[in-house]
Amino acid sequence: MSATPSARDYERLVQDLGRDVVPRAAVSWAHTVALVQHAQHHGLLDDIPFASSPAGTRKALEVLADAHPALEPLADPQVVPVWASTVSQVAWERTAEFWARHPVTDDGPRVDGYALGDAYQALSAEARKSRALCQTPPWIADLLLKLALEPGLEEAGPDRVRMIDPSCGTGHILMPAFHSVRAYRPCGRAAAGYVSAERSVERGLEAVCGVDLDPYAAVLARYRLLAAAASILGRRIDQIPASWLVQVACADSLLDTAEPLLRRGSYHAVVGNPPYITVADAAVRNQIRAAYPQVATGKYSLALPFCQLMFELALPGTGRIAQLTTNSWMKREYGRRFVEEYLPAWDAQWIIDTSGCYIPGHGTPTVIMLHQARRPHGDTVTVIRGNKGEPRIPDGPSQGLVWRAIEEEVHFRLALDRFRRGAEDHRRAHGTPPGP
Ligand SMILES: C[S@@+](CC[C@H](N)C(=O)[O-])C[C@H]1O[C@@H](n2cnc3c(N)ncnc32)[C@H](O)[C@@H]1O
Repeated sequence: MSATPSARDYERLVQDLGRDVVPRAAVSWAHTVALVQHAQHHGLLDDIPFASSPAGTRKALEVLADAHPALEPLADPQVVPVWASTVSQVAWERTAEFWARHPVTDDGPRVDGYALGDAYQALSAEARKSRALCQTPPWIADLLLKLALEPGLEEAGPDRVRMIDPSCGTGHILMPAFHSVRAYRPCGRAAAGYVSAERSVERGLEAVCGVDLDPYAAVLARYRLLAAAASILGRRIDQIPASWLVQVACADSLLDTAEPLLRRGSYHAVVGNPPYITVADAAVRNQIRAAYPQVATGKYSLALPFCQLMFELALPGTGRIAQLTTNSWMKREYGRRFVEEYLPAWDAQWIIDTSGCYIPGHGTPTVIMLHQARRPHGDTVTVIRGNKGEPRIPDGPSQGLVWRAIEEEVHFRLALDRFRRGAEDHRRAHGTPPGP
């Protein structure tokens, strides 16, 4: 395998296909050739035809679309423009060679499709620029889930817990959320209650929900969840019961009032990395302003209406909201009302300055916030303040000095809180603190 392709390599691939078809179809051809390669490589469908031509890719996509109701959009030309126009055999062969040199298959024990998600971001300039598609790195997703989903799992249990990412992209947060619910064992009761692999996968799918404006990103997230489910159960995707819902929808999370997944007050955990751009279309900008008058003021960034949406999706009282978002509202005029009037009404629990971290693709300085969907309780907000940024770009971003210091601090504090809660429970039950 050769080195990871550069941004320029992806651009060239799309330009090459773009000689035959419009740019959106070129991205679609580039990515679906990789998608089919992924499904074939991992044996996710028995009868998937070996694609060796544009027609072969279309046939394989048709088989995938038929494999599970959640994958039907793969046959829709509005979602997958390969159905609307075709590329030459030569361009197709160059694309297949590109993916043979840079496979998007999974190497580890899990078939999670991370590389497929990253490839879509790399290929689609339109998704990056107009919708702010930027994959949330797995190490950040893990921390957000630790803060919001883990307590939800402990309180509601794995059969009842529900989480949503309302700007889920191709599912970089949904995938670890699915695994957290699927593999959850109550603390200290490792052997209690046998759960079959089948039930654990089903409950993972029941718990995890996502919505995204980008129809292809949404169907890719569905594919990734099904691919993971099938590989864990040692089955093909067409052997996953059609009755198992894959709860990822394509909708405008800010404006769609009919999408059932966006019902307010429904989730134990709302976890996301919302878009931070300002909307270019004046009509949409005004619609959002009208729907979120408290926060969408001045030259607002989408981060603020998304923050309100995320708070409202959480179960009142208990739901937790963890987000990686821009910190620009802290310094700009458009954030004044948000800071002074909106945020103080909610129970802030963690504020982590991540502006010094190196997060690939995220050019804007960021912050991680955890809130609970209730009025402020107690007098403690745990704050991790940044003093310095990374001294140099780390080899692996998850190993950056700033990020590792943040992670250590969060884990230490959560362990301390857990210990204190245990001691308090013991004192209540026995009248004395635990001791030797
Ligand atoms: C920073 S990315 C989040 C990526 C995601 N967490 C992942 O790792 O794949 C922001 C996402 O918000 C989506 N988005 C932008 N505006 C939206 C809207 N109004 N409703 C729903 N999703 C939206 C974009 O399509 C993009 O996928």
